[in-house]
Amino acid sequence: MSIISLKSVRYAYRNKYQSVQALKDINCTFEQGVMYAIIGKSGSGKSTMLSLMAGLDLPDEGDVLFQGTSTRTLNLDTFRRNDVAMIYQSFRLFPLLTALENVMYPMELHGLRPRDAKKRAEEYIRSVDLTDVVFNRFPSMLSGGEQQRIAIARALAMDTGIILADEPTGNLDSVTSRNIMTLLAQLAHERNYCVVVVTHDTGVLDLTDVTYQMRDGILVKE
Ligand SMILES: Nc1ncnc2c1ncn2[C@@H]1O[C@H](COP(=O)(O)OP(=O)(O)OP(=O)(O)O)[C@@H](O)[C@H]1O
Ligand SMILES: [Mg+2]
Repeated sequence: MSIISLKSVRYAYRNKYQSVQALKDINCTFEQGVMYAIIGKSGSGKSTMLSLMAGLDLPDEGDVLFQGTSTRTLNLDTFRRNDVAMIYQSFRLFPLLTALENVMYPMELHGLRPRDAKKRAEEYIRSVDLTDVVFNRFPSMLSGGEQQRIAIARALAMDTGIILADEPTGNLDSVTSRNIMTLLAQLAHERNYCVVVVTHDTGVLDLTDVTYQMRDGILVKE
C-alpha cells in the first residue's frame, strides 16, 4: 500500500473578498523507498500540496490518505510529530540551540533520555557527512549546506517514514545542492523513506525516481 496518497484533492485560499483555487483535482500516490520530485512554475500549487500532505491543513474536497486513513480523521498533532518530517529552503533550525541540540530536540520530545538522545544525534549528524566539529556550533556559525544537513539530521531524528522537502536547495550553490539531493535520494533508497522534494533545479532530476509537474493546480506525471 502507498504510504501517502491524494484523491481528488481540491484546495482554495479564501478571505472575505477573494478566493484562489490553488489545487484543482490532485490524484497521486507516494511509496516508501522512492524519491519524488515536484517541479512547476511559481504559484502553481507545489507548497500548498506539500502542506496538505504534512497535515498542516485539510483539503476542501477529496482526501489526503496516510496508510489508507484520511487526514480528516487522523490526530494531526500525532501525525505531524510521528509520521512526517518537513525540510525548508530556509532550514528553520532553532537559532539558540547548537547543531547537536537541534537534532536532539525531536528525540527528547519523544521522551528519550538526554544521554541517549545525544548519542543518537551524534550518529545522525555523522550520517549526513558532517564531522564532530559542528556539534557545538550554533546554526549561525554553519554554512548553508551544513545547516541543511543538520536540518536533514533533525528530520531523521524524528524517525518518520516520510520526508517532505520544499525547495531544500534553493539557497545553496549547485555543487552543494547536488550533494544534498544525493543524500535525500540515499535516504529513500537505503533507509526506505518516502522522499518528496519540490525543486526548481531540473539539473538534479537524474537523481530522482519519479517526477511530477504541477501546472496551475493540476499534477501531471512527467
Ligand atoms: N496564504 C495564501 N493566501 C492566499 N493565496 C495563497 C497563499 N499561499 C499561496 N497562495 C496562492 O496559491 C497558489 C499556489 O501557491 P503555492 O505557494 O502553493 O505555489 P508554489 O508552486 O509553491 O510557488 P513557488 O514556486 O513560488 O513557491 C498561488 O496562486 C498563490 O498565490
Ligand atoms: Mg512554494
